[in-house]
Amino acid sequence: MPTPHLSAAPGGFADTVLLPGDPLRAQHIAEAWFDEPEQVTAVRNALGFTGSYRGMPVSVLGTGMGIPSASIYTTELVTEYGVRRLVRVGSCGSVQEHVAMRDVVLASGACTDSGVNRARYAGLDFAAIADFELLRSAADAAQATGVAAHVGNVHSADLFYDPRDELIPTMTAMGVLAIEMEAAGIYGVAAEHGARALAVLTVSDHLLAGEHVSAEERQRTFDDMVTVALDGLVRDRER
Ligand code: HPA
Repeated sequence: MPTPHLSAAPGGFADTVLLPGDPLRAQHIAEAWFDEPEQVTAVRNALGFTGSYRGMPVSVLGTGMGIPSASIYTTELVTEYGVRRLVRVGSCGSVQEHVAMRDVVLASGACTDSGVNRARYAGLDFAAIADFELLRSAADAAQATGVAAHVGNVHSADLFYDPRDELIPTMTAMGVLAIEMEAAGIYGVAAEHGARALAVLTVSDHLLAGEHVSAEERQRTFDDMVTVALDGLVRDRER
């Protein structure tokens, strides 16, 4: 059913939705990977499309940046459109020497300084984790494609510009692989509503080395990651 933030007709989204932050990336995914893509929503320019990939019905929706924005869209997808598989595709900043620029990170868990999962979990620390079958299928897809993928914790930050000097050294010491801004929120939404979720990320910044990929490279590595995410979803469906 249409919601305050999504104008798609009932049944307008497939039960599987890819979730980039940038709505123009959603359009790019639909045009480059989907067969017969159709735009299904554009409220606030959060563009959404539905089509198919290798015979699998699939949608893509731009969520905007940060846990609050991603939580609105993913909650409405699950509760109003019956979506069961949520896969974030986005970029991250590495906080480990061995996680290199352009590598893929599969977020098996997501730490956060956001309060959203405490709000859901009686004020306690909820372990926000990926769905194991989605994770395993994406790891297999990465291996089959020859894409270097790391599996581990990420940190979903509330602040992109965080003034705390101790934050990154703490993440590095605790083995967190990378920083991004949505996974813990999406995993919390999935847990609350009985859906399945995974975040597939590419390293666009190295926060220890102070490196950033060029816009052109960002696009190419983003494309490798989308293929891993979609092939992983096909594998998950066939299991
Ligand atoms: N911080 C948060 N999110 C990010 C970053 C970062 O450095 N790089 C890409 N996404």
